Amino acid sequence: MNFVKEINRLKKEKNAVILAHYYQVGEIQDIADYVGDSLGLSQMAAKTDADMIVFAGVHFMAETAKIINPNKKVVLPDLEAGCSLADSCPATSFSAFKKEHPDHVVISYINCSAEIKALSDIICTSSNAKKMVESVPADKQIIFAPDKNLGRYLIKEIGRDMVLWDGSCIVHESFSIDKILALKQQYPDAHIIAHPESEEHILKVAEYTGSTTGLLNYVKASDDEVFIVATESGILHQMQKENPTKHLIAAPMNEDSTCACNECPYMKMNTMEKLYLCMRDESPAIEISDELRKKALLPIERMLSLS
Ligand code: 13P
Ligand code: SF4
Repeated sequence: MNFVKEINRLKKEKNAVILAHYYQVGEIQDIADYVGDSLGLSQMAAKTDADMIVFAGVHFMAETAKIINPNKKVVLPDLEAGCSLADSCPATSFSAFKKEHPDHVVISYINCSAEIKALSDIICTSSNAKKMVESVPADKQIIFAPDKNLGRYLIKEIGRDMVLWDGSCIVHESFSIDKILALKQQYPDAHIIAHPESEEHILKVAEYTGSTTGLLNYVKASDDEVFIVATESGILHQMQKENPTKHLIAAPMNEDSTCACNECPYMKMNTMEKLYLCMRDESPAIEISDELRKKALLPIERMLSLS
C-alpha cells in the first residue's frame, strides 16, 4: 500500500491535522502538517480547526491535545507509546510528596500524566521552563517535577532553589561523556549541544542547551559546520534537512547499552502503517474523564497564556 497517498487522502476526507514531534521517524515528520517541540505542538493543538488531531508523538502529548480540545477526536498511532519520564512520576506517590511540602507551587514538565497535571499549578516545556519558574513570586517555594535533570539545570541557570522530583528520561540518561569528549578530540571544531533532560556532566560540556526547537535554531543560525547533538536522534532528520551541508553527529551512548538508546523506544513505536490505520479507524482515540480534564487544563492554560 502507498501509505503517503492514503494518509494524504484520509487527511482531506476527515479534515484531520497531523502533528508530529521531531523524534518521529523521518517519513512521519515529512507527511505531518506541523513538526515541532512540545510547546509548539500544544500551541498548534490549541489553535487548530481540524475535526481530528492525529498525534504522531507519545501518549502525554496526545493527552494534552485532548485536554485542550475535549470535543475533537484525538488519535495516537500506538496507545502504548508512553514516556519513561512520565512513568517515573506516579500520581499516588506524587500526591504524598506534595503533602510533605505544603504551600509549594508545583511546576510540572509537560512530560507527565493528566493526573500529575491535575496536581500541578503550572505546566512547562523545555523551551519555556525558565519563564514559568520566573513567573512564580520570589517568596514562594517551588516543587519541580518530574525531570530532575531539567530541574537541576534550572536551579543553576536561575539561581533559585526548588524541591525536585527524582525522575528522568531513559534516552537522555544514556549519553556517554567519555565518547562525546573523544568525538570532540576527533572534531575539535565541533559544537556540543544538548537537551536539558541530559545529565549534569553532559550539560557542563555543552556550548548550548535548549529544547528541540532551540537546538534546531542554534544550528541554523550558526556559521559553524560540525555539531555533536545530545538528544534523541530523530531530530537529525529535520536538522539535516535545514542544514544540508553541515556535519551533524548524534551523541553516542554508554558502552554497556544494548539498545539504540539515543532512539526513544516509545517515539519509535509509531510507524507509517500505524499512522494510516489510526486515521482510517479513528482509533486508538484518547479518552479522559471530564473531571480530570478540567483539573489538568488549568495549569496548561496558565502555561499557554504566559508563553
Ligand atoms: P521538547 O521537544 O519540548 O524539547 O521535548 C523533548 C522531549 O523529550 C519530548 O518528549
Ligand atoms: Fe519520554 Fe525521553 Fe522519549 Fe521524550 S525521549 S518521550 S522524555 S522517554
